[in-house]
Amino acid sequence: MCGIIGYIGNNNCILHLTNGLKRLEYRGYDSAGIAIINNKELKVYKEKGKLQNLINLLNEKRNEMSNSNIGIGHIRWATHGIPNEINAHPHTTNFAPIAIVHNGIIENYKELKEDLITKGAIFKSETDTEVIAHLIGYEYTQTKDLKTAVINATKQLKGAYALCIINENNPNEIIATKRFAPLIIGKGNNENIIGSDIPAIINITNKVIYLDDNETAIITKEDIKVYDSNNNIINKNIAILNIKEDNLNKDGYKHFMLKEINEQPNIIRNLINSNIVKERIKNLPTNINNIKIIACGTSLHAGIIAKYIIEDITSIPVETESASEYIYRKNTTNKNSLVIGISQSGETADTITALRQAKEKNATTIIITNREDSSICKYGDYILPINAGIEISVAATKSYTAQLITLYLLSIHLSELENKNDIKTKELKSHLNEIPNKMEQILNNTNIIENIAIKLSAYKDFIFISRGTNIGSSMEGALKLKEISYINATAYPAGELKHGPIALLDENIPLIAILIPNHITYDKLISNCQEAKARKAKLIAITSSNDETLTNLFDYIIQIPEISENVSPLITCIPLQLIAYYIANFLGKDVDQPRNLAKSVTVE
Ligand code: F6R
Repeated sequence: MCGIIGYIGNNNCILHLTNGLKRLEYRGYDSAGIAIINNKELKVYKEKGKLQNLINLLNEKRNEMSNSNIGIGHIRWATHGIPNEINAHPHTTNFAPIAIVHNGIIENYKELKEDLITKGAIFKSETDTEVIAHLIGYEYTQTKDLKTAVINATKQLKGAYALCIINENNPNEIIATKRFAPLIIGKGNNENIIGSDIPAIINITNKVIYLDDNETAIITKEDIKVYDSNNNIINKNIAILNIKEDNLNKDGYKHFMLKEINEQPNIIRNLINSNIVKERIKNLPTNINNIKIIACGTSLHAGIIAKYIIEDITSIPVETESASEYIYRKNTTNKNSLVIGISQSGETADTITALRQAKEKNATTIIITNREDSSICKYGDYILPINAGIEISVAATKSYTAQLITLYLLSIHLSELENKNDIKTKELKSHLNEIPNKMEQILNNTNIIENIAIKLSAYKDFIFISRGTNIGSSMEGALKLKEISYINATAYPAGELKHGPIALLDENIPLIAILIPNHITYDKLISNCQEAKARKAKLIAITSSNDETLTNLFDYIIQIPEISENVSPLITCIPLQLIAYYIANFLGKDVDQPRNLAKSVTVE
């Protein structure tokens, strides 16, 4: 997973390339590079580390690039080869004066490399991408036409790729192509831009062409021509994007994560008031007798909570499973299954594979995603957009609650389809309506949470516990803390504590418990906390209880508004997100771009 960009126009391309890469930084940020053609000469600049290092280099070399209106760029999240300057893209070849940038993974690169070496390729890097550069370069020596060379070369690749290629011999065109990796082409006015994602191109144009797999485009400054894999020209629609530039700014917040946390009430409000689930899920087959929810990471946690809700209000058994496990075992999906794939990005390789497999087994599929234009959607019989707006912080927050509310609304719809519009379903509906205001109550008063977070920031290990629907919340709270503060955190169903993890407890481990008093397990959870207290653990409650006796038990209490247990995950996640945020911020971590991570995991 990486970000790629290409620009051709009348203007100097450097600013467009670096602006575009800045907007793609969430996709990777361990090295970056650009290639340009300046006065008919191909030039490549690369730097290890954050994009700013590359920008500093480009500033130093400004004189060398005064006349370059064509270029490609890349921001890397390393897969093959450590992040260093040699492994950074663009990559070049000794066969031809071309440079390429690549997002994806080439599975057969070793075989291709061996063959290319026998043909004279001189390899410099450890990347799979360099194979593509040499392969295209070699094909170019055979055909003398870059587009044909790209079509011929990509036919030999196994794996995923989105590519932009420039050629010193033809400084008037960029070639772009893709398979199993996203790529869009923005049509401007006497300038065109190519990017892995919308933010990279939106400041130039809102008119876009979505390249489909195995299509190859020739992009000049005036024109975009698209060809199929047989080299035949094809007509492509131009879509108009409805995205405001403001969505891509921090709006006065210190970090995108904090901005996105604060966007949640309105996103949830809009989804509750929309009729999106009913509009999209029409004519669901009547044979469905089992549901599988498949996702990864934060999206998986939303799915874990949904199992509780769906099973509570429908008669359908639900299994929630990590996509990376589902795809490598003989699972029980069949034609009577409803498989719900949840993916914010819609580009997560494991989840895409899972949904493809589910379709192959003739299951009915629903995709819950923030990106209706994403790769996973082709495997969905029904698509439920979560409409959270572009999420820039690598740590997911607003997309999580938007997925959750969508799953709640879907559960209600499934219950109604079963003619089970019973009292429980009606109550659930009315409880959901209270969520946005209750989220706002917490977000309007975050000082207590921030102060507690600062006090907790000295600890190195945390345990999160809960029962019922909030087990998923505990897991999500632990994940948020881990990923942005690099503090070890584990979540357990509270009943599991005494089966082993209690051995860890002493005064060095804070235990964060989510307690919802109207739930059947509330007293049991209190007992678990007492057991932890007896082992001197530092105890923090996130609770809607007003029970004064809790003040003796807990070191800190984060009070949340009164809430029914079944919808409480939509509320308990807010203090959990804030605890993680304030700890990471206090520790001076790179909140929006945590180390080793990237926003969409397009590799298995
Ligand atoms: C955590 C996070 C990841 C993603 C996971 C799945 O904050 O963002 O755990 O949730 O990589 O991504 P999507 O939802 O895009 O499939």
